This record gives sequence, C-alpha cells and structure tokens, in this order.
Amino acid sequence: MCGIVGHIGSDISSDVVLEGLKRLEYRGYDSAGISFLSNKNGLQLYKKTGKLENLLEVLKDVETTSNLCIGHTRWATHGGVTDQNSHPHRHGNISIVHNGIIENADELKSEVVDKDFEFKSETDSEVFLALVSKYNSQSSSFKEAVAEAFKHVKGNSAFVAMNAETKEIVAIKRSAPLACGLNPKNNDKFVSSDPYALVGYASEIYFPDDEVLCHLSHDEKIIKFYDLNLKESEKFQHQKADTSSSSTDKGEFEHYMLKEIYEQPKLIQELVQDYIHGKAARHLAKVKSKEIDRFLINACGTAYYAGLLVVDYLELINKIQASAYLSSEFRYRNPLFQKNDAALFISQSGETADTLAAAELVKENNIPIYSLVNVRGSTLYRLCDQNLLIKAGTEIGVASTKAFTQMALTGRLMAASLGGELDDESKKKNLEKKFLLLSERINDLISGVEKIKEIAESLYNKKGYLFTGRGIYYPVALEGALKLKEIAYVHAEGYASGELKHGPIALIDEEMVNIAVAGPELLEKTISNIQEVKARKGIIVTIGPENNKELMKISDYYIPLNFNGLDELSPIYVNVVHQLLSYYMAKFKGNDIDQPRNLAKSVTVE
Ligand code: AGP
Repeated sequence: MCGIVGHIGSDISSDVVLEGLKRLEYRGYDSAGISFLSNKNGLQLYKKTGKLENLLEVLKDVETTSNLCIGHTRWATHGGVTDQNSHPHRHGNISIVHNGIIENADELKSEVVDKDFEFKSETDSEVFLALVSKYNSQSSSFKEAVAEAFKHVKGNSAFVAMNAETKEIVAIKRSAPLACGLNPKNNDKFVSSDPYALVGYASEIYFPDDEVLCHLSHDEKIIKFYDLNLKESEKFQHQKADTSSSSTDKGEFEHYMLKEIYEQPKLIQELVQDYIHGKAARHLAKVKSKEIDRFLINACGTAYYAGLLVVDYLELINKIQASAYLSSEFRYRNPLFQKNDAALFISQSGETADTLAAAELVKENNIPIYSLVNVRGSTLYRLCDQNLLIKAGTEIGVASTKAFTQMALTGRLMAASLGGELDDESKKKNLEKKFLLLSERINDLISGVEKIKEIAESLYNKKGYLFTGRGIYYPVALEGALKLKEIAYVHAEGYASGELKHGPIALIDEEMVNIAVAGPELLEKTISNIQEVKARKGIIVTIGPENNKELMKISDYYIPLNFNGLDELSPIYVNVVHQLLSYYMAKFKGNDIDQPRNLAKSVTVE
C-alpha cells in the first residue's frame, strides 16, 4: 500500500522524506515522488514510476536542501502506473499525497470541483487537490481549506497537504494509517503512514483519530490537532517513539526475510518472558475477565492461517468453540452473533482494510473485540477492547515470517490464560519450558539450513507444489503454500493430507512436488497419503520425525525434525522449514524476495 512521509522544520526535509520512503518500500509500491520547497529554487516536484532509485537518479543533480517536504510511494489503485499518476500532485503552491480511495471522486469532479481546474492525472487523489485549491481561495486558513475539502470526500483515505506559500503541512485521515512525529529538541515535525519511517527522527509519536486535522507549521513548537470545525481536539494518542533499534538494516543478511526468519528463536524467548514474567502478563489476565462461549476469529492471508492454529488451541485446550473467517468474506456473510461471543482480530500491521471493516461490524454488534496485533497504536489496536501485542518487532519482508510465529504463540498464551494454565505454577512452568524448547529447536533447524537449501536448489523449477498436513499441521500447509507463492511466483496449494484423494491427486505426476508434513500424530494415515502420491510418481519432500525408516524410504527428500516435547507448538517449528524452503527457492529463481511483485506489506484498501 502507499507510503506517505512529510517533514517541516530544519533544513533536512528532503533527506528525511527520502529516507522515510526508503523505509516504507517494504509496503509495496510502483512509483515514488517528492514535493519540496527548495531553499534556493522555490517549490519543486519530482516523481517517477518504478523503484525509489529511479527517483533518486532524477534528483541526482537537483538542489534538494529544504525545510518543507512531502513524499509518497504509490501502489496504483485508480489510474495506471505512470509518472503523471504518481504522487505528489501539485496545483500552484499546494501539493498533496494520498493513501486510500475517494469513493465519490467522479461525483465531486463533476459537481464540486471548479470547472477550470485542469486535471493532469487519471487519479482520484487529484480531486482532493482540486477541492483544497478551491477552498483555499475561499478560506481564512489552509487548514480550513483542507477541512472543507475533506468533508466532501467519501471512503477510507489519509491525505497530507503542503502549502509552500504559508509553509505548513496539514494531514487528516479516515480508517487509514497516519502518525505524526515531533522532535522537541529542534521542533522538527513529521507525518507518515507508518511510524517506522520516523524511527530515529521523532521521539514523540501521535496517532490522530479519524477526521482529526494535524497541523504542522514552523510557527508552532508543537503539532496541533483540530476537529473538522477547527476546534482544538484532544482526539489523538500520544506515545514515546519506539527507539529500540528495531534496526532499519539487514545486518549480515542478504534479505530482511532471512533476517526475520533467524530472529524467531530470540523473539519466542522474549515473548514468553514478557507474557509470563513481565509487564505483559496483566494484559493476558484481562482477556479472561469476561465469560466467553465462542470466539469468532477474523484475519487475512498469513494472519488467517495463524488464526486457524489459534482455533485449534482454543478448541483443543480450552474446549471453547472457535471459528476463523477470512475478513474479506466475514462481513458479507451476515454473520450470526450469539450471547457470550467474543471476536479476535489478528493482524501484523493493524491496518488491513478488510480486517478493520470486520472489526467495525463486530463492534457495532456490541461483541467484545480482542486483537493479536504487532503495531501498537495502529487502527486495529485503537479499535479493540483488549490488545495482545505479538512483539515481532518491525517486519520489513512483505512475506510474513516472524509475525506468523508470534501471532500463533501469542494466541497460545491467550488460550493458556483463558484455560487457567497461567494460574497453576507447574502448568505455567511447563508451558514456558515448551516455548523455550521450541526456540531451541528452531535454532538447531536454522544451523542445519544447508540441507534445506540443497533441497530448494533441486526443486525450485518444478511445475507445482502441494503442501499437505493433517490436524494441527493443516494451517501451516496453507501458510507454507502462501509463502512459496508470494516470493517464488510458482503455483502452490495447501491441502489437508486426507483431501488429496478427493481431486487434487489428479495433479500428481513426476513434475509435481508434495511437501508433506508427517507429524507424530496420525502418522500412519499420513504415510498412506504420501504413498498415494508416490504411486503416481510425485516428488516427495517429507518433514517428519527423526530416524523414521519407513518415511525415509518412501521420500525423495527427508527433513528430520525432533518433535519431542513440542506437542501443539510443533506446527510452528515445521513452518520454519516451509519459510526456509520458500526463501531459497525464491533466491534460486532470482526474485525480489523482500518486495515481491504486486504485493504490499499492508493491504489498506478493500
Ligand atoms: C503474508 O505473507 C502476506 N504479506 C499477507 O497475506 C498478510 O499476511 C495479510 O495481508 C494480512 O496482513 P496483516 O497481518 O497486516 O493484517
């Protein structure tokens, strides 16, 4: 999704914005641009399709020193991928950037915008610029013009408008990500669609509520907030910036994705430490404060597959009925709510439009809503009654890895709290031991990665891939297939092992790969499923228990894992094999692993 960065203050604006756009590259985009008030040459605007380096190439010989700048990385929705359709858009001294969709753009264009406004792009965003320009000539202030323009706009959007004449930035949003930042030491003020862009610059972070104007100017020491009638507003959340260097670099790793896979053992240790012994324990305790007979889980993509695992935990451990729904489906199915329902929303970004819309629907039905979320202060975080942070740190790789692990494990901790495990010292100790064992096993797995890399090198050019698993391994079969699709751009599907014979087995031939999870549970059944594939010349990659001679005999490739003692956490262990297989297959294909084609890190449009 689109990335927005803005700065006003000291003469670092263009540098800050370009660095911020670089950090937001992981969100996915197809063009980039900046508009800045050059100290020497007045208002300048440059924008280019393609990667950020195309824009940097254009700026190579441009004098960009400035103390007022906004920038944008665009993920095209309305209007093709062209320079003209890229943001920012400019009219006179005003320029704007936009993230989201203006649902009534055509109507505004024909009925509200000045007839003599000359549109230069096919975008809906430029309609907002036309409105601001129209009202700016009629208003007593720039913020009033932006407020008036925003009142006309329908749909989920974040806008940042810059006035080079009055030297101010005004930002506002509705159901879209937006954060402001302040460095009180030098009064530098920032705005962005993701606080990650402000790490190291702003020590104070502000998350405005919907329809709250953020006013950034040179004259004021602080950022001021207003409602749409320009009355000062307190409707924002303030927090200290997360300066824990959630490090903006890859270190010794070639890709963020690999770095994030390798971070998992340590994150697991920190998660269990914080939730069992640390400050986060009190948040777990709050979840069980209500009587809950049924959990409705909502999420998308990888978060949905983590949700399927959480369903297993809630039903197997807590005997609480639970169902996981794709958020994009949930709200259109007229869901039936019951007394003592509770809803759980799972999201790394906390900004996924489908998941937010589902949360709004559930909230309207007065159902308590909880989250497993990674970004504190995100829209989902602020919408939910109770939040359990998954503590994955910033996840840059668009293909989610560590967030999946942390979502599933935080869900396991939630189940433990609901089931009273954390009130019993020995059960709590056993659970903590299991988490630490998982961390250790993943570490061992990672140190033996060469074997997985070799298998990936043998198989990365096959026709198709079927990931199979039974019971608690079925969710990670789905997640494994998604990972491979996302970064290797090959066709892969996740299936319940027992389901192949009901159709998909027709796909099997000597070019099809079956990546089969053979967990200790239902092992005999899984072995017969693998034999069905083998009999039809499929290529078998089995992830199974150590020293299982029968499985080793029937598999073309065998990845032995030590499942002992992990029980319901084993799928997370298995999933790391899927993550590494996908990573190396994509690497051998030479793909852009951290920013796969067509994908966005946070899908903030429906
Ligand atoms: C996962 O690898 C994908 N990038 C995608 O499926 C993602 O999980 C999905 O868009 C949900 O995102 P969220 O967790 O931020 O809500």
